[in-house]
Amino acid sequence: MPATVVIGAQWGDEGKGKIVHLLTQQSDAVVRFNGGCNAGHTVYHKGKKFKLHHLPSGIFYSDKLNILGNGVVVDLGILQEEINYLKESNIEVKNLKISPLINIIMPYHRLFDKVYESESKATLGTTGRGVGPAYTDKVARKGIRIIDLFSPGTLKETLSIVLNEKNRILSEIYHLPGKTLELIYEELLSYRELVLPFVEDTVELIWELLGAGKRLLFEGAQGTFLDIDFGTYPYVTSSHTTVGGACIGAGIPPSKIDKIIGVVKAYTTRVGEGPFPTELKGKEEEKLREVGGEFGTTTGRPRRCGWLDIVMLKLACKINEFTELALTKLDVLSSFSLIKVATTYICEEKLLEKWPYDLKTQKTIKPVYREFEGWEKDISDVENFSKLPKQAQEFIFFLEEELQTKITIISVGPQREQTIIR
Ligand code: IMP
Repeated sequence: MPATVVIGAQWGDEGKGKIVHLLTQQSDAVVRFNGGCNAGHTVYHKGKKFKLHHLPSGIFYSDKLNILGNGVVVDLGILQEEINYLKESNIEVKNLKISPLINIIMPYHRLFDKVYESESKATLGTTGRGVGPAYTDKVARKGIRIIDLFSPGTLKETLSIVLNEKNRILSEIYHLPGKTLELIYEELLSYRELVLPFVEDTVELIWELLGAGKRLLFEGAQGTFLDIDFGTYPYVTSSHTTVGGACIGAGIPPSKIDKIIGVVKAYTTRVGEGPFPTELKGKEEEKLREVGGEFGTTTGRPRRCGWLDIVMLKLACKINEFTELALTKLDVLSSFSLIKVATTYICEEKLLEKWPYDLKTQKTIKPVYREFEGWEKDISDVENFSKLPKQAQEFIFFLEEELQTKITIISVGPQREQTIIR
């Protein structure tokens, strides 16, 4: 198993943090390849709950390498806070490697994220962490990268040109005060001490690890339907959340990837705006949210909740060609006497079997549900598939049949031990 990639199959928050933490035991290195501090990965380590934004979920193991690949964007202030936060729990961050090609989330990116959201007629409900504007500047070739911190002269020159433009936009379009060059420049230089011990050519490192027969785990952030190309555009994040993102965002050749694990929550949630065909309203949604603890890890926002959607998942299986699936939060469904799964949609009185790309259709389609009898039993301490209630087993067999992919991991609670491996 040279390389395993873990990808969210829905709109993020599928419980990837727990799955990665679990798989880390069999890996030598964990690599993040997309997203930034918009991600919120919840990990229970030795019974304690941790929330990670930047650091890979392997950071809890001193004998594993943790790599931030070129495809992520980093807010160095938040990275510093996260390292300190782990230190408070006696977890020393030593085993971290950071690509010099990473683009930095600048103070003006955070500001623009908020300004765009408040000025726009159609808000996206971003996390407000500056991630979209940072990727925008990367593509526009106006980004500041980690490598630039070590060439102060060029850094100041580039920053001055970029900031001049940003300040003009802020004052002339949004009538807001601009940012001061010296302050940002000094702040950036102050982070050199933080990143210096960790900066390394991660492409070369990954290549060396593969050559030495080491096992790598790629930890995707967000989910397939937040992908900048394949997601519910424009209600998406600004990176590639699908399997191809691992190749671009870490420099691993596709041929080295031999396992692609899709993480599927047993129901669906989304934070922020955008279409959501199986979204529930009222008491049923509230119940799913309460039982599932569905509040954003990064922003604390209540997540929108709904039933599982097979049509979406079929597309996720195609784009990512999952070799297996991890089904999470199955225990949450124990509270329901009736469980629904969307198998097709109705669109203008016609049956629709494929996910539509057009936003208007995505917003108006009505799901057609298949209903399952609930098991209404606590399954949070079940250790074997055969010990799951018959109804839960049938639910899993149905998903496997529809998605033509084996469910090898079933999560029945937040702790690492609450996992059924098949
Ligand atoms: P941004 O990534 O902050 O630009 O936000 C764009 C969209 O992606 C918003 O709907 C966010 O709520 C969503 N999003 C970003 N990161 C995550 C995540 O880690 N989990 C779930 N949704 C996310």
